[in-house]
Amino acid sequence: MVSLDSPITIVRPHLIEFGVGTAERLGKWASEKGYGRILVISDAFNAKRVDALALRGDVTVFADVTPEPDTANLDKVLAVANAAEADLVVGFGGGSAMDLAKLAAVLSGSSQSLQEVVGPNNVKGPRRVALAQVPTTSGTGSEAGIRALVTDPDTKAKLAVESLHMLADIAIIDPALTFTVPARITAATGVDAMAHCVEAFTNRKAHPMIDLYAIEGTRLVGKYLARAVRDGSDAEARAGLSLASLYGGFCLGPVNTAGGHALAYPLGTRWHVAHGAANALIFPHVLAFNTPSVPEKTKVVMDAFGHKVADSIQSVFDTAYSFCAGLGIEMTLSGLGVPKSDLDAMADDAFAIRRLLDNNPRDLSRADIRSIYEAAF
Ligand SMILES: NC(=O)c1ccc[n+]([C@@H]2O[C@H](COP(=O)([O-])OP(=O)(O)OC[C@H]3O[C@@H](n4cnc5c(N)ncnc54)[C@H](O)[C@@H]3O)[C@@H](O)[C@H]2O)c1
Ligand SMILES: [Fe+2]
Repeated sequence: MVSLDSPITIVRPHLIEFGVGTAERLGKWASEKGYGRILVISDAFNAKRVDALALRGDVTVFADVTPEPDTANLDKVLAVANAAEADLVVGFGGGSAMDLAKLAAVLSGSSQSLQEVVGPNNVKGPRRVALAQVPTTSGTGSEAGIRALVTDPDTKAKLAVESLHMLADIAIIDPALTFTVPARITAATGVDAMAHCVEAFTNRKAHPMIDLYAIEGTRLVGKYLARAVRDGSDAEARAGLSLASLYGGFCLGPVNTAGGHALAYPLGTRWHVAHGAANALIFPHVLAFNTPSVPEKTKVVMDAFGHKVADSIQSVFDTAYSFCAGLGIEMTLSGLGVPKSDLDAMADDAFAIRRLLDNNPRDLSRADIRSIYEAAF
């Protein structure tokens, strides 16, 4: 574990607007900056309400972002982006739209291909267009970060691009945009936000400067997620989750996730389980597995669930599991249609994600991963 005197780099979007009713501020900001050719990258649902951003000028809307986007979806975005010659790119949607907006902002009109920029710090700057991010789910925190994830359909791996050049100039987090998120997606994306916080907090690279956000983000999800699932228009609960998602995004940059996300990825890449749903299913298993290595930190996480003790692996598992199951999340792999015959291949895939597994506070062997999938089946 690192300590208070360990070096760390913190980055944030230049401007962050937060609160109910802030979405329309994007138009004014863009006009003041003189951006008149604007490309909005969105999904089918959000593309219908781009008016909420009050943009003026020549606005092109890409409405076809698919959940867990793959390279083919990115190619479509880039074709539109190359033709649009925008001076401002806006990501308007969940993590899927915001991640493709980041890539559109650095790859359109560039000689670099996706393959050339995969990994950390491979994007050649400077970026030629401005970038704004407006999240409509409370989960990924992608609005605050420098990573974008796209699935390679051939290898079924998530390609992660990480670059300071993908940091937004402005992020506008308007919780009112999340009122329409269905209960099922609210539940799954909310646990994803919590997983970002918890996996950063219990991480080998955990840092006191980030723990602050991790603890508060975890607490906010514990307090508000059930309320928002019950009543999607509960503004206070939605705002609590939007903040938790943003804090989770703050955790991802300098620290990142660990075993939970590594084990969740094969569910998405091989079986098209949504990112949030996959993380929620895996979350109790890895939290419980890690307990012996980070007992004090696990107690803090348990506190967010209103459970004061973290006395055993089993009680940690039971508490986190009941929290997720109580939100209506499908908690078995069989229930999601994953066949038992695939567990070995999934364990191979997860075990290969060293960039995350090496962050996990307790070593996860291939056999440990296989056992967790078996237990989750
Ligand atoms: N960049 C990062 O740091 C980071 C972090 C975590 C996850 N991700 C990526 O983000 C993606 C997942 O993003 P997500 O969980 O936000 O889901 P998403 O963007 O895929 O959206 C999920 C679904 O919800 C719909 N939707 C979005 N907003 C809505 C709203 N307000 N009302 C009704 N429906 C709405 C979308 O149309 C879509 O069908 C994955 O590809 C994942 O890998 C990125
Ligand atoms: Fe995530």
